[in-house]
Amino acid sequence: MSEKVKKHILFTGPPGSGKGTQAPVVAKAIGIPHISVGDIFRYHKQNSTSLGKRVSSYIDNGMLVPDDLTSELVFDTLESESCKNGEILDGFPRTLKQAKLLDEYLERKSESLYKIVYLNTPEKLIIKRLSGRRICKKCNRVYHIEYNPPKKEGVCDIDGDVLYQRKDDEEATIKKRLDTYKKMTFPIIEHYRKKGLVAEVDGSREIETVSADIIKLLK
Ligand code: AP5
Repeated sequence: MSEKVKKHILFTGPPGSGKGTQAPVVAKAIGIPHISVGDIFRYHKQNSTSLGKRVSSYIDNGMLVPDDLTSELVFDTLESESCKNGEILDGFPRTLKQAKLLDEYLERKSESLYKIVYLNTPEKLIIKRLSGRRICKKCNRVYHIEYNPPKKEGVCDIDGDVLYQRKDDEEATIKKRLDTYKKMTFPIIEHYRKKGLVAEVDGSREIETVSADIIKLLK
């Protein structure tokens, strides 16, 4: 009987490119979990854990959390039973240092990356997307007041909990996050392109069209 291939899949792209919208849909379709590093940090922040207190000011100011702290958290998560068949890692790696740490981690385990999905989305769409974004406090489902509204204003369709706006979705912080993305994260795409792993997807199209494209290329 052939062994199931462990699929380590990365989602990358600028803030607002649709990583958090697409990853849960795609993860469900291919039967592996969605791990969002941003969601994990926000959970700790909202619950004022010791990790939450350490990362809070980085996140609110649109800066990256230090590489070692982030990598440790991610590698711990990857060891969990739920990731035994792979996972979609959304928002990691975000620097060349993190990419190299991930390469080394997988090499130690004799595993490899399956694919990097790069959601290429023009900057002009990003501010509108992020300033209209709303998120469920309970299940983290992502909405948009115009492009993807909930059935009832301010309330999650899934669990009826309240929707909130992220503190780092203020215009000045969005611009800082975009700068950080260009300087720190964009170079990882080239790093993985050289390894032939990048699948570029046009993230400017309708949500359902983008989902269908990604699912097709990963199945
Ligand atoms: P994180 O939560 O990962 O934020 P991000 O990368 O900036 O990405 P976003 O969540 O803003 O955007 P997205 O691409 O998920 O877009 P979404 O689907 O929501 O990280 C937050 C912070 O945590 C970082 O700034 C950093 O401080 C820290 N952090 C995280 N990872 C780290 C790491 N590895 N190292 C260090 N620090 C780290 O979509 C946006 C909106 O657009 C939504 O309203 C959605 O409904 C709408 N939308 C989506 N797709 C479409 C579409 N096709 N058409 C129309 N509207 C759409």
